Amino acid sequence: MTGGAGFLGRPLVRALAERGKRVLSLDRRVPEADPIPGVTGIEGDVTDSGGIERLLREHAVDEIVHAAAIVGVTASVAGLADTVRVNIDGSVALFEAVTRAGGVRRLVDLSSEEVYGHFAADPVAEDTPALPVSPYGITKYAVERLGGYYADQHELPYVAARLCWVYGPGFPRLRLPQPWLEDALAGRPSRLAAGGDHHIDLTYLDDVVDGILLVLRAGHLEHRAYNVATGSAVGIRDLAAEIARQHPGWSVDLGDGPIEMAPGVAAARKGALDITRARTLGYAPRFTLAEGLARTAAGLDAPARQAV
Ligand SMILES: NC(=O)c1ccc[n+]([C@@H]2O[C@H](COP(=O)([O-])OP(=O)(O)OC[C@H]3O[C@@H](n4cnc5c(N)ncnc54)[C@H](O)[C@@H]3O)[C@@H](O)[C@H]2O)c1
Repeated sequence: MTGGAGFLGRPLVRALAERGKRVLSLDRRVPEADPIPGVTGIEGDVTDSGGIERLLREHAVDEIVHAAAIVGVTASVAGLADTVRVNIDGSVALFEAVTRAGGVRRLVDLSSEEVYGHFAADPVAEDTPALPVSPYGITKYAVERLGGYYADQHELPYVAARLCWVYGPGFPRLRLPQPWLEDALAGRPSRLAAGGDHHIDLTYLDDVVDGILLVLRAGHLEHRAYNVATGSAVGIRDLAAEIARQHPGWSVDLGDGPIEMAPGVAAARKGALDITRARTLGYAPRFTLAEGLARTAAGLDAPARQAV
């Protein structure tokens, strides 16, 4: 696993270890607290192709989930060169290492709905032309194309799992629903100048973990990309209404229009991801928005309760 210390990486390595796999978690930071039994944390950089090759050989790695990345439109706008270096150079370094070491039966690359740019359909299916508009989406799509190139030329067992807005306990960025849940739990109202017209496929973390493991474990795969989301989009006003229902007293002052991902950077027009392909692998999202929000809020609440 690359990026195994991250928001998605931690529950993924935990789930893999619980299924009896020996798991190596390569990340540029290794969390000191809360080690996961069966998981070996290795501090390293995904751009270090030689180091990765040595690890692959030494531990006879046979499956990889690739999650190491600079994540999000905001981060890519703020630091494009670093995003290109980690996302594109890092993926190529990994593909090279896997090609040289051999022995890997599948590499699942965590890609993003940002590859679609402005959704040309709702729901958007994997064969919809990808026209990413954000620097982040452009790097994610470049990685998919390079993965396809290595698959064609060097038999890299590459497949992309395209995720949408994943949410859940421990989400590390300032994207909805996280800041509104934090405000609701702190007893503060929220304010968002624009975003009331945005629609997005919000997927609860545990469903995404299930979907990625299905793509990893499936036998023959027909395709090189699988959407892993819920298959339906929620409007930001409906999201606000559900949070208000769960947290009486909370309110939001919400403007119309598209949501901003970074100051002055409007989000692409989005919607739902078509999950027909993933369903053929047995994928079936389990969590409604109400359940996912309640679990996320409970995860946010826990440290505060412990501290009392
Ligand atoms: N969370 C989402 O909503 C979402 C949606 C679509 C796609 N994705 C993709 O899923 C993957 C994981 O995202 P996440 O939400 O867990 O993000 P995250 O930031 O929590 O995790 C990324 C991890 O990569 C590590 N990392 C960064 N640069 C590295 C480097 N040079 N070498 C080694 N490790 C490095 C970070 O330390 C971090 O632990 C990413 O590829 C992201 O693009 C996430």
